[in-house]
Amino acid sequence: MKKAVSALFVVLAVIGSAFAAEAKSLVIVYSRADENYGVGYITVGNTMKLAQIIAEKTGAELFEVKPAKPYPADYESCIDLAKKEQNANARPAFLEDKDISGYDTVYFGYPVWWGDIPMTLYTFVEAHDWNGKTIIPFCTHEGSGPGRTFRTLKTLMKGADVRSVTAVRGATAQNDRSASERALAGLLK
Ligand SMILES: Cc1cc2nc3c(=O)[nH]c(=O)nc-3n(C[C@H](O)[C@H](O)[C@H](O)COP(=O)(O)O)c2cc1C
Repeated sequence: MKKAVSALFVVLAVIGSAFAAEAKSLVIVYSRADENYGVGYITVGNTMKLAQIIAEKTGAELFEVKPAKPYPADYESCIDLAKKEQNANARPAFLEDKDISGYDTVYFGYPVWWGDIPMTLYTFVEAHDWNGKTIIPFCTHEGSGPGRTFRTLKTLMKGADVRSVTAVRGATAQNDRSASERALAGLLK
């Protein structure tokens, strides 16, 4: 009897670890390099810097959503175009797709654009099924905080458990790794 009980525990432990091994995380990020507010011309976008820290610390795979048509490199032209897209409720195409079905936790990163997520991310989010996933949003901004992005994600990601947004100043994300790590500490718990 004792042997049977311990054999049962071994079987349960094996099944348990198999399930634990299957729990997978993914970092999805949208981030723009080139000229931006407060940081000048940059080669790695502000939000991408945070995404890299999260991927490094969690071991999660990193996927970058890229617009099919790149935005202008200069800041003023970029914000004008982004405002036009937002006013038109546009759905700009993204470049490569990603099968997200095998991931339970998604760290979802974006810059705040005119108080919301960039319109290309509307296109990407609407093209996928988020049901049952845990979404951990993070963003960079230059003063407005996360704006209405939490509400947008809650509305678009039906059936997902969307957690609160971790918001970091873009210049901090770009220039101060240890301050970024401190800002991400809660999210990484
Ligand atoms: C098109 C556009 C719109 C922006 N709108 C806002 C905004 O509404 N609020 C804000 O605080 N910062 C705004 N910013 C600043 C960015 O959110 C900030 O620079 C961010 O860190 C950029 O991240 P990235 O390098 O990952 O793209 C905007 C920047 C751009 C290019």
